Amino acid sequence: MAIILPELPYAYDALEPYIDAETMHLHHDKHHQTYVNNANAALEKHPEIGEDLEDLLADVESIPADIRQALINNGGGHLNHALFWELMTPEKTAPSAELAAAIDATFGSFEEFQAAFTAAATTRFGSGWAWLVVNKEGKLEVTSTANQDTPISEGKKPILGLDVWEHAYYVKYRNVRPDYIKAFFSVINWNKVDELYAAGK
Ligand SMILES: [Fe+2]
Repeated sequence: MAIILPELPYAYDALEPYIDAETMHLHHDKHHQTYVNNANAALEKHPEIGEDLEDLLADVESIPADIRQALINNGGGHLNHALFWELMTPEKTAPSAELAAAIDATFGSFEEFQAAFTAAATTRFGSGWAWLVVNKEGKLEVTSTANQDTPISEGKKPILGLDVWEHAYYVKYRNVRPDYIKAFFSVINWNKVDELYAAGK
């Protein structure tokens, strides 16, 4: 077995005009495929550790040193992107009453949550991700990670994530990351976020 690039759960142009088809082709077919290929190349060197990337990245010290950074980068890249595709949809969705209440309790309101998430995505310097996670205390938390680091490595369960690498937005939004972040809120698949919250809390 090897890690396989998952198909998108919608057409490449399904998220237009918020996320353009050219970006989706490049992002999924080229960037994500490269993470898959490089993760497989690293895993092939150590068949004894298996291929459960979530387990491996939950305890990075357990990863053999010679492939550790390759798996953090490329295994993380695969997990993050596989999740990211599922976190978007052309359908109109909204948080469940339970998740909405948790967001209000944690951040004060949905608008304040959106502001916190937007700030995390805007201020992540260079390449990385903004996240809504369930932390070790079972509480919601907005955070960000560099490069392809996954919150799983910090003991946190990601339930919403936004790729803020330039490859995720530069074709359409050029240097204007804030417009891309705003657009993302129009395509979030809250049904998937609900499911992850229910499983992670
Ligand atoms: Fe990406």
